[in-house]
Amino acid sequence: MAAIAEAAALIRAGECVAIPTETVYGLAADATDSRAVAGIYAAKGRPSFNPLIVHVPSLAAAERIAVFDDRARDLAMRFWPGPLTLVLPVRPDAGIASLVTAGLDTIAIRVPRHRAMQALLAATGKPLAAPSANASGGISPTRAEHVVRSLAGRIPLVIDDGATSAGVESTIVMGERILRPGPLGAEDLGLAIAVPDGRITAPGQLDSHYAPSKPVRLNAAEAKDGEYLIGFGAIGGAETLSAGGDLTEAAANLFDALHRADASGARAIAVAPIPESGIGVAINDRLRRAAH
Ligand code: TXA
Ligand code: MG
Repeated sequence: MAAIAEAAALIRAGECVAIPTETVYGLAADATDSRAVAGIYAAKGRPSFNPLIVHVPSLAAAERIAVFDDRARDLAMRFWPGPLTLVLPVRPDAGIASLVTAGLDTIAIRVPRHRAMQALLAATGKPLAAPSANASGGISPTRAEHVVRSLAGRIPLVIDDGATSAGVESTIVMGERILRPGPLGAEDLGLAIAVPDGRITAPGQLDSHYAPSKPVRLNAAEAKDGEYLIGFGAIGGAETLSAGGDLTEAAANLFDALHRADASGARAIAVAPIPESGIGVAINDRLRRAAH
């Protein structure tokens, strides 16, 4: 808790701090303080057209920032706190820094479940803007070490609360469409995944968003010369996402495995086939970006 108090003091002073959520580690700052939000963009080296997700402690707090219709409220009541982000019209009087929304009239908002992020929200009393705590274009962090490797010297504090549980970023929903697949699948939500039409409605869907520094080959049955094979199920390798073929376990291990493969001496990365069902849809989405 001393760490949370220190983090809250930094947030109040307009700094950003890295903190785990149930999905990935986020780089959090006061969403009402435009200089603090600019600090997030600076630390990540992120293009400024990319809007950020705002984290709040409750649906009531979210309703003070965004305009909910019945469908959105129903999803919020079913899945918050949890790995669901809703894109909704932003209330002009909400006091959110315009850098957060990158000038859009909508805002991406969620109530996270993780105890550390909830504690920080309670300690600051502020809505917290938080993208994944990695340098722009890098692999999302699921452990404090990943954050340190990516952002060392650029942020004042990383709260370490172990590995995240979901392992991939939250599912983003706008209206009846899923903009970004995530831990909550289309079946859970009763919604369709948006057909990619080339338009960047969620800039995080830029093709190269999750790029390791090495070539990535997907649907690999075995390692070719010089490749670090990440296995799944019956296909082994240098390591496996889940020897038992469990997709939830695979999602939790995904970015950690990509980080290790990237840091290894291998020339290239190969990944075994992952079934396109449930959270496997989100895993394959991130893998396709990594392979791009
Ligand atoms: O699980 C998560 O969502 C993590 C944790 C830290 O909460 N956060 C995260 O944030 O993944 P980030 O910044 O890496 O991704 C935010 C995504 C981007 O794809 C961004 O373009 C999209 O949300 N987004 C933000 N505001 C939007 C808006 N108004 N309309 C459409 N997409 C939006
Ligand atoms: Mg990210």
